Amino acid sequence: MFGTQKGASVRTVVAAIGFLPVLAACVSTKPSAETPAYHHRFEHAEQWAKEFDDPSRDSWQQPERLIAAMQITPGMIVADIGAGTGYFEPHLSNAVGPTGKVMALDVEPDMVGHLRDRAARERLDNVEPRQVAPDDPGLGPASVDRVLIVDTWHHIANREAYASRLAAALKPGGVVVVVDFRRDAHHGPPPEHRITPDEVERQLRAAGLSTRVVDAGLQEQYVVSGSLR
Ligand SMILES: C[S@@+](CC[C@H](N)C(=O)[O-])C[C@H]1O[C@@H](n2cnc3c(N)ncnc32)[C@H](O)[C@@H]1O
Repeated sequence: MFGTQKGASVRTVVAAIGFLPVLAACVSTKPSAETPAYHHRFEHAEQWAKEFDDPSRDSWQQPERLIAAMQITPGMIVADIGAGTGYFEPHLSNAVGPTGKVMALDVEPDMVGHLRDRAARERLDNVEPRQVAPDDPGLGPASVDRVLIVDTWHHIANREAYASRLAAALKPGGVVVVVDFRRDAHHGPPPEHRITPDEVERQLRAAGLSTRVVDAGLQEQYVVSGSLR
């Protein structure tokens, strides 16, 4: 569970998913070194789509489970940062419904073009692809309910500053969800660019968010949530 909503249905979801908060790291009092960002381009979206949207990904990515756990309700505004080829967009679009909005954000122009084509082709009318700067998702103050960042945190530099922008963009009750590769994952960036969940928590906490490492049962990735205190 990433949100703060309570109630029987929520407890059912939590029980079914089996989420367990497993760690509450200490607040760091001094700036800490960050794992170097893994910079590389994601041109040729059609080629990347073969990897990112390979149907075999569903078995380890379990998108329905992840999206259900984010407790997205109809009408919410969700930002998917580093949306790539739009693997999560059908799920997010469905979760927010016709009164909600999914902002599919990416730095790579070719990915944004691909996202636009995909949204039109798949009639994802509530998905708005947008190109963003590497250091700023361009979100308005208190404008989003959920931020999803899958396999992208390790591409971002100066993460504490970036996390501050995310915190400022959250509405009350808003949650940032960072999903990235474990050290021993079969997929993912080179080892020197893999970030521990501790480090992600530190960076979100430095931005004033309350964090948890959540056991989402994913084989390859960990999940860290950060909520407004
Ligand atoms: C490994 S892909 C993940 C795509 C998608 N989240 C998924 O799970 O299929 C990383 C994506 O993040 C984008 N990206 C890299 N740095 C970024 C940044 N600073 N802001 C937004 N997007 C970024 C890349 O262009 C690429 O499309």
